[in-house]
Amino acid sequence: MKKIAIVTGAARGLGKALALKLAENNVFVILAVRSVEKAVPVLEEIVKNGGEGVIKQCDISEIASIEKFAADIAKEYSHIDIVLNCAAISIDNGATIENLPYETVEKTMATNFYGTLWMCKMLLPLLRKSADARVVNFSSGLGQLTVPRMGENPSYSMSKTIVNAITKIMADEEKDTNIIVTSVDPGWVLTDMGGPNAMLTIAEGIDTPFWLATTDAKNLVSGEMYKERQILGW
Ligand SMILES: NC(=O)c1ccc[n+]([C@@H]2O[C@H](COP(=O)([O-])OP(=O)(O)OC[C@H]3O[C@@H](n4cnc5c(N)ncnc54)[C@H](OP(=O)(O)O)[C@@H]3O)[C@@H](O)[C@H]2O)c1
Repeated sequence: MKKIAIVTGAARGLGKALALKLAENNVFVILAVRSVEKAVPVLEEIVKNGGEGVIKQCDISEIASIEKFAADIAKEYSHIDIVLNCAAISIDNGATIENLPYETVEKTMATNFYGTLWMCKMLLPLLRKSADARVVNFSSGLGQLTVPRMGENPSYSMSKTIVNAITKIMADEEKDTNIIVTSVDPGWVLTDMGGPNAMLTIAEGIDTPFWLATTDAKNLVSGEMYKERQILGW
């Protein structure tokens, strides 16, 4: 039986590439996107390549939208094997705490923090029904606390530090279940968010998150952040 994956932000960037790669590898992919229209070409490509999936509307910055999404999924699927919490925004480039608008912080946290947390919370019952479940939360080197600061994106950086906290806490709470929860730093990747100077291709950027979603559970430590298939630390 095919594994079932949910990929947020699957209409472009790393989310799209991961949806395509999972489908190519015999995984049924639920494309969780805020614009269904934008995801249609992705699903068409999946089907053209012999894969299977569906598109579901989900705006992760709206708790009600996540709750409706999860309720619909629960009606249609007995379990979920993989959740890739990929969708995020980065809208405070060059800002400092001194000049940071409240609305920027609010929007960033609504998407990157609350969105990731609520996807984890609302999908937990379906993940517990999988024999081998994975949650991969997209973090960033900008969210690390033990290395020199890498970018001037205060609310984005804080949101990714909180994503790491979600990973750590959920992994601990689920330690006696079949759910492995990890954070991933995909590296600096050539996407809309990464910009044109990024060092990695999209194919390189999805290598570790794809591996976290699909490798044998014995290769992974739940509650850790990974980069280049290695534990990165915080
Ligand atoms: N690229 C990098 O260098 C880099 C580095 C470190 C970490 N990351 C992380 O990797 C992940 C993917 O990044 P990316 O480079 O692929 O970003 P991207 O190209 O900017 O794509 C972001 C995706 O998130 C979706 N999204 C944003 N807000 C949403 C919402 N409220 N509801 C649902 N979907 C929403 C977007 O959907 P729409 O198409 O509807 O806008 C889009 O599909 C992010 O978590 C990012 O923080 C990226």
